[in-house]
Amino acid sequence: MTETDQATGGKQAYREVEADLEVLRRETVADGVVTLTLADQAGADLPEWSAGAHIDLLLTPSLVRQYSLCGSTSKRSEWMVAVLLDPDSRGGSQFIHEELSEGSTVRVRGPRNHFPMVGSPRYQFIAGGIGITPILPMIEAAEARGADWQLLYGGRARASMAFLDPLERFGDRVTVSPRDERQSRLDLDSVLAEPQDDTLVYCCGPEGLLGAVEGACRPWPDDSLRIERFSAKPLEEPPPDALDTFEVECQASGVTVTVPANRSIYEALEEEGVAVLGSCMEGVCGTCECDVIEGEPDHRDSVLSEAERARGDMIMVCVSRSRSERLVLDI
Ligand code: FES
Repeated sequence: MTETDQATGGKQAYREVEADLEVLRRETVADGVVTLTLADQAGADLPEWSAGAHIDLLLTPSLVRQYSLCGSTSKRSEWMVAVLLDPDSRGGSQFIHEELSEGSTVRVRGPRNHFPMVGSPRYQFIAGGIGITPILPMIEAAEARGADWQLLYGGRARASMAFLDPLERFGDRVTVSPRDERQSRLDLDSVLAEPQDDTLVYCCGPEGLLGAVEGACRPWPDDSLRIERFSAKPLEEPPPDALDTFEVECQASGVTVTVPANRSIYEALEEEGVAVLGSCMEGVCGTCECDVIEGEPDHRDSVLSEAERARGDMIMVCVSRSRSERLVLDI
């Protein structure tokens, strides 16, 4: 196991590892959804993590995918992920479903958390389909903190919705709403129509659901909504002051690069030999996050919240750019 300390600019910092883990168990938990329970081959404890964290599975040198940890944070010897076989798979979920079985080893990197659970007296969780995965440990954490919580869980059909059995014990805190049992869209009004001062909304699911929840939460107090995306959100119009070309100064490595219009910051840094970790290359996973020392980022990612964007002290260099002629990064 190789270890690095992860400094995550205000996010949860973990001991991060890159290691080959063994698939201890593989179970089918819903139509098209398998869970993989991963463990160190020698039985060592894995790094601590908290609700909302994810790991990278390095399936092949060019196939890296992120999955939320969905087991219990107290089980230090195991990590669990749940993987939906995506019919439009670009290779990741298909590889996992076809190639990984009990006894296989898989290269794993992490954990990281870009969806941390902030303290609150009350939580409204909203999950769509496989978006239930980061929410499960959040429910465990809310229970442990004695917080009040509710879950609205939508999906295609009950058979396709993972983890319904373990959720059953929570009774009417959980509303399960399969699409084939309702006439209309998921009833977000039932939980979001009245803005609440004492409630944080955590949502994970497909883009349509996230957009609808973002719309419904507009009248809510600032920063009430926390979302995690599986894929990049629709491209926004660049701001009027977006720059085609700008300079990035890497303070720790003493290198300054020019980023032209046809290159990302990540690519420009890589060409100059500045090491930055990257994974999804579409602003979703948070792996390439860098601390900003000076300058104004032009955020194009799907990771940072509005409040984090406004702070301007971190940037996802695979997609984001700069609104100032010079950006100074702590790398
Ligand atoms: S590499 Fe995933 S956000 Fe940049």
